[in-house]
Amino acid sequence: MDRLDYDNVKGFLNTKYMGRNIAYFDKITSTNDIAKKLGDEGEKEGLIVISEEQTKGRGRMGRKWSTHKGDAIAMTLLLRPNIPPKDAPSITPLLALSIVEGIKDLTGIECGIKWPNDVVLDGKKLSGILTEMKLSGAKINYIAAGIGININQSAFEDEIADIATSLKRFSGLDFNRARILGEILNSLEKNYEEFKANGISVFIEKLKKYSVLIGQRVRIELTNEKIEGKVVDMGEDGSLIISNDNGELKRVISGEVSLSWYYKAK
Ligand code: BTN
Repeated sequence: MDRLDYDNVKGFLNTKYMGRNIAYFDKITSTNDIAKKLGDEGEKEGLIVISEEQTKGRGRMGRKWSTHKGDAIAMTLLLRPNIPPKDAPSITPLLALSIVEGIKDLTGIECGIKWPNDVVLDGKKLSGILTEMKLSGAKINYIAAGIGININQSAFEDEIADIATSLKRFSGLDFNRARILGEILNSLEKNYEEFKANGISVFIEKLKKYSVLIGQRVRIELTNEKIEGKVVDMGEDGSLIISNDNGELKRVISGEVSLSWYYKAK
């Protein structure tokens, strides 16, 4: 098995700080939990917690995320951006874009982004992101950005068999996980630096290009509202613009999106 420790990953990195400090584990509860602990202890931005297996891997909306030994990437990135907390939701699509670009640069496989948190391939989920933020007063203390990417799985558990895919399932090939990880981190550092300097607006064209939602009918659950309609555009702030059945335009900055062909049962 190609271990995802620093010795194996460093040869694929051209970053200054992203992934230069890897906390590597064979088995832990959840990389997000450890990253948050290290964040509380003051670790620097760019730290990555990686585990080959997670016993309590978490997805969004209280869902479970399984990570079995050696066939996926399960990691959490520690970020400390000096931006207003209201701009933090943009980091999730920025991560999704970096995953898409890293995979495309290395393999030529073009994935899509199901805004804001998922990377999809062939209409199925390849990667999910769980971003957790800790504030200190009105400022961001840290963001623990958990990323799961399906790489070499040949099959999935029954409950997700119809909605999940891996690079191997799609292409029939086995991939070097360390190399994919390196390429994603390279793309991520570049994008993150640009985001800190210029905001999310400079990424909108790319986010639109890879979006699988534009033109689709969706249902979005917000804390106290449900919006149904057609996605017509993406705003300069990275929000999704939806035309509802009364023809009103609604802007959504984050939320859980249901598509008719995706996550049917969830
Ligand atoms: C989702 O799609 O619901 C988000 C899935 C996020 C999974 C990753 S795997 C690494 C990190 N550790 C966790 O417990 N969850 C995230």
